[in-house]
Amino acid sequence: MKRCVTPLLLAACMLMPLVSMADQALAAAKNCLACHNIDRKVVGPAYKDVAAKYRGDKTAPARLVAKVMGGGGGVWGVVKMPSNPQVNEAEATRLVAWILSQ
Ligand code: HEC
Repeated sequence: MKRCVTPLLLAACMLMPLVSMADQALAAAKNCLACHNIDRKVVGPAYKDVAAKYRGDKTAPARLVAKVMGGGGGVWGVVKMPSNPQVNEAEATRLVAWILSQ
């Protein structure tokens, strides 16, 4: 944890897990975790696999935000993700950023 040496960075480093826990709580509250798990496939792909697939793909976040809200299929298998009208664009953006950081 070389990055956590100065007091300011230390504070940021201590907050990071809290931020990520808040995002996980949002995913749970929005029912994403009914079909997804961070590190194992359930109905939908593991979020770690999603992050690995799109690493370095700059166009992925916008596409995924649209897909989270509108649903769709054909990427991970035959099962489609239904639309998620319970998330707005800001929430979908936050969730996708969290997923891609897994
Ligand atoms: C009813 C089950 C279900 C729910 C609820 C669900 N998903 Fe999915 N999700 C899926 C399935 C199935 C796929 C795979 C679709 C495919 O193959 O293109 C998927 C794929 C994804 C992908 C990858 C899409 C791609 O094109 O690679 C992301 C990101 C994702 N889901 C995020 C979410 C988020 C965020 C939520 C909560 C708002 C959510 N999902 C809720 C079933 C679900």
